[in-house]
Amino acid sequence: MDNRELIRLALEARQAAYVPYSGYKVGAALLTKAGKVYKGCNIENASYTPTNCAERTAFFKAVSEGEREFEAIAIVGGKGELPQDYAWPCGVCRQVMMEFCNPKTFHVITAISEEEYLDKTLEEMLPHGFGPSNL
Ligand code: THU
Repeated sequence: MDNRELIRLALEARQAAYVPYSGYKVGAALLTKAGKVYKGCNIENASYTPTNCAERTAFFKAVSEGEREFEAIAIVGGKGELPQDYAWPCGVCRQVMMEFCNPKTFHVITAISEEEYLDKTLEEMLPHGFGPSNL
């Protein structure tokens, strides 16, 4: 699975975003080490706090199906029909990644399109992160 295809799947996931309050649609595609992809979108709530980010939707779908080994996540987001800028994962999502991924090898791909993207390690996104190895 190359980065382009993972981004295409994140763009597909974004179509399902439930965002009646912010209008900011996010899609994520999470690749397991075995090559399976779990898609996720953000899901908002009238009470605001229960809102779930696209990245966590993808992680929780995967983890609840027994997955534990992850390679990369592609993320796209924005208000318009197509993303115009990079959608960076929030701090809570970075922490969830830290729980299940090796910060030195897990790739966080933030994309505007299949051609325009940044590919960073989780360690770059969350320096000195606190994770399972600290306990
Ligand atoms: N959002 C995500 O889906 N992922 C992030 O990492 C940042 C924020 C969503 C939550 C909410 O539905 C909307 O973007 C605006 O905050």
